[in-house]
Amino acid sequence: MESFKASGVYTKQAHVDIPEGLYEEEHGRNGFFGRVSQLYHTQPPVNWTDISGDLKPKNLPSLFSHKDLQDDFRAILTNNDCELSLGHLTKSLDYFLRNADFDELYFVHEGSGTFETIYGYVPFVKGDYIVIPRGTTYTIKISQAAKFFQVESRSEFEEPSRGLLGPNALYDQTAKFTPEAALGSDQDWPEYKVRVKRLGEITTITYPFNPLTAKGWKGSVYPWKISIYDICPIMSHRYHVPPSGHTTFVAKNFVVCSFVERPLEDKKHKVLKVPFYHSNIDFDEVLFYHQGNFFSRDNIDAGALTFHPQGVHHGPHPKAFEAGEDKLYTDEYAVMVDTRYPLKPTKWFEENENKDYWKSWM
Ligand SMILES: [Fe+2]
Repeated sequence: MESFKASGVYTKQAHVDIPEGLYEEEHGRNGFFGRVSQLYHTQPPVNWTDISGDLKPKNLPSLFSHKDLQDDFRAILTNNDCELSLGHLTKSLDYFLRNADFDELYFVHEGSGTFETIYGYVPFVKGDYIVIPRGTTYTIKISQAAKFFQVESRSEFEEPSRGLLGPNALYDQTAKFTPEAALGSDQDWPEYKVRVKRLGEITTITYPFNPLTAKGWKGSVYPWKISIYDICPIMSHRYHVPPSGHTTFVAKNFVVCSFVERPLEDKKHKVLKVPFYHSNIDFDEVLFYHQGNFFSRDNIDAGALTFHPQGVHHGPHPKAFEAGEDKLYTDEYAVMVDTRYPLKPTKWFEENENKDYWKSWM
C-alpha cells in the first residue's frame, strides 16, 4: 500500500488551481505509471543559467531534406531495447527487406505508398503507424515521397491494456488494418534481392522470382496498421491526464505514445493546460512533432524531434502558460517514445542537433 504524505503548500488536486507564484513539478516513478509526488516550487526547475555535462535536453530540427536521408534511413538514438531512425523515400525500393534483429514500427510523417509484404499489401498515408513483425519479408512502394520516423524494437509491439476504459478505448478495434493475402506486384524482374539484417549486417539473398509468394495465411503474427488520426484520446476537463494515458504501443522497456488533437482542460476549474514540469526520472523521453501548433514549446516545427534524458527537468517554455491561457483546443499531433534505459545519440544526431536547445528556457 502506498503511503501518501503531504507537507507545506499543496493543492487538493494535482495540476489544478496551483497557488499564484508557485510552479508545480511532478516527481513520478516508472514513467507516470508508478508512485508520484507533486512539489510546489517558488522557481521553475528549468530556470537554469548553465548546464555542463551530457544531460542537456536535445533537439533535432526537421532533417527530412538532409542529403543523408534521401532514399535512406539514419539512426538517431539507440539503446539495447530499440533504435530510432529517420528516413525519406522518394522512390520505391528495388529490393526487399527482412529484419532479423528487430520488430519494426514506421510512423508516416508525410507521403503515401504501400508496404508489399509476405502477408499482403498495407497501403499507407500520412499519420499511419505500420507494425512489421520481425522476420517479415517486404518492400516499400512509394506513390508520394514519404518521410518516416522509424522505431525498431528487440521485443514485439503490443497494444496497451485498456483496463476500465474497455476494448474500444483509444480506437475502435475495426480501425486497425490487416492485409489480405496477395502475391508481390512485380513479376517481370530478372532477379529479386532480399536484404536480411542480422546483428546490424546485411546478407543479400537472390531469387529468380518475387519472394512475396504467399497465396494465403492464418495466425496471430502479421503486419497491421492504425492511423494516429483514428486515436480518440482519453481526457478530463478537470485534470491533466499524464502521458501514460496516451500509450499506443507497449514493448519491453519502452512505450510509444500518441498525442492528438483534443479539447484543453477547463479554465473555470483552473486546470493546468500545459504539461507539468518533470524530469521523467526512470525514463528517457523522445518526442517527434508531427503536425499542429506546438504551443508548449518555442521554435519547434513539424518534423522536429526533442530528446530529454532522465534526470534533467523539462516542461513548458515560459511563453506557453500565457499562450495556453485562452486556448480551448489543441491541434497538436506528436509521437512520444519513452525508454526505461538511457538512449545514446548517434554521431549523426550529434552532427545535426540544435546545440542551443537547452537554452530555450532561459
Ligand atoms: Fe516529458
